[in-house]
Amino acid sequence: MRKPAHPWRASTDVDPASLVFPPGFLFGAATSAHQVEGDTRDNNWAEWEDSGHAARCGRAVDHWRRFEEDLALMRWLGLTAYRFSVEWSRIEPLPGRFDDQALARYRQWCEALRSAGITPMVTLHHFTEPSWVRGGFENPGTCEAWVRFVEHVATNLADVVDHWITINEPVGYAVQGWWRGEWPPGRTNPRAAIGVIENLLVAHAEAYRVIHRLDGSACAVGLAHNIVIFEPRARFNPLDRFAAKRVDAAYNHAVLTALATGRFEVALPGLRHRADLDHVRGTQDFLGLNHYYPITVAARPFTAEPLRVGFSDAGETNDLGWSLEPGSLVAALDLAAPYGLPILVTEHGTCDADDPDVRRRRYLGDSLRALSNSISNGADVRGYFHWALMDNFEWGYGFSPRFGLFRVDYDTLDRTPTSTAEFYRRVIAANRGTGA
Ligand code: GCO
Repeated sequence: MRKPAHPWRASTDVDPASLVFPPGFLFGAATSAHQVEGDTRDNNWAEWEDSGHAARCGRAVDHWRRFEEDLALMRWLGLTAYRFSVEWSRIEPLPGRFDDQALARYRQWCEALRSAGITPMVTLHHFTEPSWVRGGFENPGTCEAWVRFVEHVATNLADVVDHWITINEPVGYAVQGWWRGEWPPGRTNPRAAIGVIENLLVAHAEAYRVIHRLDGSACAVGLAHNIVIFEPRARFNPLDRFAAKRVDAAYNHAVLTALATGRFEVALPGLRHRADLDHVRGTQDFLGLNHYYPITVAARPFTAEPLRVGFSDAGETNDLGWSLEPGSLVAALDLAAPYGLPILVTEHGTCDADDPDVRRRRYLGDSLRALSNSISNGADVRGYFHWALMDNFEWGYGFSPRFGLFRVDYDTLDRTPTSTAEFYRRVIAANRGTGA
């Protein structure tokens, strides 16, 4: 990985005016429905929580009802874009039965955002499915049901939405749910996980076509792909290097290659898969990039775990033990660049429960400086969405990790700007007028 010019530990606050972004750059923040809205009870995650696998999300941060209040926070920040997901179980509580009021509420959000000069970016699948969907995307029937849902949403929102994310992190969803068993449905079958990714690619491609049919050629459709930087545990150990390359190919490149060429191929020890998915080729108008951390890979041949992954124990970490390495965002951009698409950083950020959140503020400053340098060096990046607008339900970790630009008091649900929010606000103020 390319080393950052300024290791973050030594950095002082970045001067917002020194950063360079192209005209029209989207300065955003992101959330997802189940994590923030509250009372999303009829989906796979609520069931998972009810069966004791995770804390209950419950009212979350009540974004569903407090959207207008949260819009005021976005205006205060000066955001020019907001990424959120629409909750399938709200819009289609029973198969084929759509709730017009729920959809009208989302429409209201889009209209209010647009009047505030904030571009809405809508995610159509962010890890949750209604309880009536059985087997998630392992079940090929789910694709058909979801595409029908997408068609309904796009029919109703096409005139107020131009930026669409079909699926958030297909690899994360499949690996967590079907390989590691840490998310619903709690399976530990790597082969099934690969099948889920393939089904998601097919679903994405169909959604891509449906949205363009309904929203015309000017809208932009992509998926949000989680890019992880895999480094050999021991830099000079050839086995570790080889192992890191293998995991990089399977986790990062298999999906991007399938989207670019129609060939989906995974080759890991004991696990080979190949499929020709011609209709998937070329179904991305931009590359949505979620990035959080680098990970190390060690080769342990002839053991039960031939590829061992873990966080690096060198350097600074966040509250969840994730390495805070601003240079890894540059490495993720470099990895994505050869695919030749404009890039939107659809998620990036870190959790920091400290008050003030000094680590996060520096990490954001150094990451934005690294991003700005990459752009000056030619990277075609059109937007940056910080995860997250406010603290929220962090899946298996519950409410303890604090990812929000706004700190939420979970008793009163009051929102307070963090020092990172103050900093991001200055960055946007110094740069949003620079061309758009
Ligand atoms: C994911 C999601 C978000 C997370 C964020 C922080 O990557 O899991 O897209 O829902 O909350 O990434 O972990």
